Amino acid sequence: MKLPYAEPYKIKMVESIKRSTPQQRKQWIKEAHYNLFNLSSDKVYIDLLTDSGTGAMSDKQWGALMEGDESYAGSQSFLKLKETVQKITGFKYFLPTHQGRAAENVLFSVLVKEGDIVPGNSHFDTTKGHIEFRKATAVDCTIDEAFDTENMHPFKGNVDLKKLQKVFDENPVEKIPFVIITITNNSSGGQPVSMENVKAVSKICKKYKVPLLFDSARFAENAYFVKMREKGYQKKTIKEIAKKMFSYGDGMTMSSKKDGLVNMGGFIALNDEEIFKKATVFNIMYEGFITYGGMSGRDMAALAVGLDEATEFDYLESRIKQVTYLGNKLIEYNVPVQHPIGGHAIFIDANKFVPTIPRDEYRAQALAIELYIVGGIRGVEIGTVLADRDPFTRKNRYPELELVRLAIPRRTYTHNHMEYIAAVLKNIYDSRAEAKSGYRIIDEAPIMRHFTVKFEKI
Ligand code: F0G
Repeated sequence: MKLPYAEPYKIKMVESIKRSTPQQRKQWIKEAHYNLFNLSSDKVYIDLLTDSGTGAMSDKQWGALMEGDESYAGSQSFLKLKETVQKITGFKYFLPTHQGRAAENVLFSVLVKEGDIVPGNSHFDTTKGHIEFRKATAVDCTIDEAFDTENMHPFKGNVDLKKLQKVFDENPVEKIPFVIITITNNSSGGQPVSMENVKAVSKICKKYKVPLLFDSARFAENAYFVKMREKGYQKKTIKEIAKKMFSYGDGMTMSSKKDGLVNMGGFIALNDEEIFKKATVFNIMYEGFITYGGMSGRDMAALAVGLDEATEFDYLESRIKQVTYLGNKLIEYNVPVQHPIGGHAIFIDANKFVPTIPRDEYRAQALAIELYIVGGIRGVEIGTVLADRDPFTRKNRYPELELVRLAIPRRTYTHNHMEYIAAVLKNIYDSRAEAKSGYRIIDEAPIMRHFTVKFEKI
């Protein structure tokens, strides 16, 4: 008999999670005005709201916490982390920050000016927010294949080189402070970017002398996909692949809450001394002194270990295999999902799942609520609610895709949890014809409404 795959770790500590009944959850979600962000975590059984800061640390990371050096200046934990970041990324300069968006805030304070254009592949919400807040524009150059959930392109996070070239053709180069590639591409479904694509983008950037940055939140997962899917990388280690990818760029921002395997933290790494010097000033103003940048010494110590663990093949294999396992189960049950299965999450296609619910009744939100009521599972809507209203017409913006994201925390849930999630979705899918109506908004903020919006059932 062929042996099944099994995880390369065992469990040393457990955290209880509370079960509840559909009747209880029906009441709780009503009290939460049908907004999943309003639920207290004890009312959630399996929490797939995000994979950010929700993972489990290893025994070695917990051990490192005890050795954290809390010195304000010159912390040994900072030095250790700096050495690890330099070893893994190859970048010369390093600044810690308290999380990923803080790294964006510090670096973009140096680089982005009013009227600038920043091309990239589906900039993450906070990345776009930090660009638009400075009255600049983020231009999405992701390949079209990413927007067709059934397309099997192995690198659906890739930048469309023609779209990128068009941005350079149509704008003065002084208006383009940098190009940013997000690895993996979160917004398109945790889809990877190929080394070949990064190389080609880097060539265009070099031609115009424009820096290339990486939003590296899930860079290790990206390296895993390169190893498994791209010709010529099978024999390379994850660390070799990651370093090679970074070698095509000039700097990076990082949310350590993902592939840093910690609950809080971020950083900037760069090669340019001038930009580093300028960023240092903003870091001191916004984050903290340059040898802690908003992080505790103990957290920097755990992050140094986490970065090393996250770039080991065995860990990544168990991580991606768990997400793929859930994805394949859903495919077996005919549940429509984004193909191929990405690195950190499953994206359910609500347009295909519940076309019977009118779009202006927020079908992806309705599906996320049903998933909570039936199974106590909390996902997140990535559709019309998140897309907000047009700032001028105040009409709803209907994005191409209506998705429910199920983000899988790292090393946190078991195989049985995946079976449970798949079974809940199968049951909902089998009774989908009964779903005829959705929700109506009764209160919303002028921007970023999805965190606080209130609904009522139609
Ligand atoms: N870049 C990417 C690609 C992200 O996914 C995130 C966060 C950030 C930057 C910002 O980092 O949260 O540390 O400030 N993504 C989380 C998510 C929130 O749920 O996908 P942060």
